Amino acid sequence: MKIIAVSDIHIPKNNARLPQMVDAINKSDAEVLILGGDIAPANDAALEDFLASISNFRGLKMYVSGNHDLWIADKNSTETSLNRLQNVLPAIYEKYGFYSLEKQPLLYKDVGFAGNIGWFDYTFVRTYSPPFGTKFIRLDDNLQETKQVVSWAQMTQADWKRGYVKIKTLFSIEQTGTNDIDYIKGFPDDVIFCDQMKEKLEDDIASIEGNARKIVAVFHCVPFKEGLIRKNATAVACVRNAWAGSKYLGEVLYRHPKVCLALWGHIHERQELVKGRIKCVNMSFSPEGVNPYTIEI
Ligand SMILES: [Fe+2]
Ligand SMILES: [Fe+2]
Repeated sequence: MKIIAVSDIHIPKNNARLPQMVDAINKSDAEVLILGGDIAPANDAALEDFLASISNFRGLKMYVSGNHDLWIADKNSTETSLNRLQNVLPAIYEKYGFYSLEKQPLLYKDVGFAGNIGWFDYTFVRTYSPPFGTKFIRLDDNLQETKQVVSWAQMTQADWKRGYVKIKTLFSIEQTGTNDIDYIKGFPDDVIFCDQMKEKLEDDIASIEGNARKIVAVFHCVPFKEGLIRKNATAVACVRNAWAGSKYLGEVLYRHPKVCLALWGHIHERQELVKGRIKCVNMSFSPEGVNPYTIEI
């Protein structure tokens, strides 16, 4: 079965490279197309335009959402990100013939497809350590600086949960974080929600594995620490791993021997690796991946 997959198109940021992607999808003879989230942040009209633009693809279409797809740009809106995930986005995708893996898994021929947005629970933040001596200015819950300057070892889950971190080096103060804190509203606690996504995937795979010969698992966020692509040893890169994914998502995949392929995005760099019997792919629409990722299973 030939599958094509892509995530993190980020319309309009990547519009210059978009026509080639659209053309490749429309001309593909693959049986399955998987979209992996972060398609058009806070712009459902652009999402619909994109889905309409790939309507010449004739195979089975399915998707999971990305964190940016849950963004609410209007500060006065009473909409919630959870409602976007559970209702608004499925309705849009279904209009264009996409199956929602967020809602339920799918068995197509003898291949099972299961997946969801995943999420992050800060379990990857200790994967790498920042340069020796890096300090952090602790923030309060209003993101204001406190007088506490702490070491990497002293940073706690509460610090990552604020979504914004101030790093103090010898020469400067840098700040980094996830811009989700400004745009994701009405959403559960990150750790609790990530655990729910892990449990959901476990249940979804269990419900199809009896009839499937192989299973494809799809997340938006990163399920294995090897997916944390780090080009250098900066403190910013280390800190940002807090919001990349969760090791517990990957552990689900190990427990089900029919899982042969895991797809994810969120980190914008295409990547292939192997974890035991599972081929793993970061399917991002990165400069290295202007065409959809193609795989035969
Ligand atoms: Fe993204
Ligand atoms: Fe993302």
